[in-house]
Amino acid sequence: MYKSLPILSVLTMCALTACNNESNNPTAQAPAEQTATGYKITEQSFGSFEGQPITEYTLTNPSGMQVSIINYGGAVTKLLAPDREKQMGDVVTGYASIEGFTQKENPYFGGLIGRYGNRIGGARFTLEGKTYTLPANDNGNTLHGGPKGFDKVVWNAEKVAGDSSLKLTYRSKDGEQGFPGNLDVTVVYTLTSDNALKIDYTATTDKATPVNLTSHAYFNLSAGRDSTILNHQLHLNADRYTPVNDVLIPTGQIAAVKGGPMDFTTEKPIGRDISQVKGGYDHNWVLNKEGNGLTKAASLYDSVSGRYMEVYTTEPAIQFYSGNFLNGTLKDTKGGQNYVKHGALCLETQHYPDAPNQPSFPNTVLKPGETYKQTTLYRFSVR
Ligand code: GLA
Repeated sequence: MYKSLPILSVLTMCALTACNNESNNPTAQAPAEQTATGYKITEQSFGSFEGQPITEYTLTNPSGMQVSIINYGGAVTKLLAPDREKQMGDVVTGYASIEGFTQKENPYFGGLIGRYGNRIGGARFTLEGKTYTLPANDNGNTLHGGPKGFDKVVWNAEKVAGDSSLKLTYRSKDGEQGFPGNLDVTVVYTLTSDNALKIDYTATTDKATPVNLTSHAYFNLSAGRDSTILNHQLHLNADRYTPVNDVLIPTGQIAAVKGGPMDFTTEKPIGRDISQVKGGYDHNWVLNKEGNGLTKAASLYDSVSGRYMEVYTTEPAIQFYSGNFLNGTLKDTKGGQNYVKHGALCLETQHYPDAPNQPSFPNTVLKPGETYKQTTLYRFSVR
């Protein structure tokens, strides 16, 4: 069941007790809320899609950090964060125009993922005695909500008073991509005063349905100085992960990472053990936490630029995907960049893959009268 989250109390508690900020401490300081001054949102046309205008909204915080988001797929198109020398650099992948985002091969760059992020095995699930068949788009499974998931629809966008947030809404109709119930989704992107991109998701339904929302932003903290993320140092606050079969559906086991290539409990370079993992990293780690409070999930460090990113979430798990399918062939990329294999990575905070078919996994079914909530922050600093 989804319950309301004690985010404010976590923030308040940290403010009162001056939580320490040690990188491997899961209860480390949660980012502060922003004040309304010094923020700005600008808009520019980003072309059109199926006759609807697409707009790029750029949010700026008082220290000059910026994030740009389009109403197509609610995708993050640009994220400027400072390096050690205070030089801003774009740390996410993206395209120069809407045609880039709508190309068939776009591997979900920056998009909002739903109704069910990650895979549903066999493209079907049974809920309250009824079996639902979904369109399959990944080796007979349904990936990221199906062929026309939330990353491929036009969202309504509205600036929130104070200009630190952009609010996106979308109604996914009963039966869309095979899922039951009209699902009303709201996603609020906020730039905080302490350089975090905060994403708040809420959803309500009129029929029981699985819901698993996430962001598919791809990061390379070097902002163009290193062509891959293999030298980035990753920490995952997870002692366990969910092993998968050949088509990346969880086997149902929960395995310990200890000492093996999946072990990121202590920060290590992504490239160190990647050759021991068939296909590269594309797995779901079970976060060390109880309940659904906002806790540290991951951190990522690029020693070239000094950029350090921490990920906090209310979700129970995180999919770390090491950009295994990038191959330098995407068209219309920003600045003509070549996104090569392992050129960028995703840290998708989420519930477990295939949970609708795996009763032992945490519940993903949202019922009428309940509110789905998830909050994730990507906070940027330097070391
Ligand atoms: C997710 C999946 C990957 C891949 C990428 C997009 O992260 O887990 O297997 O499909 O999206 O290429």
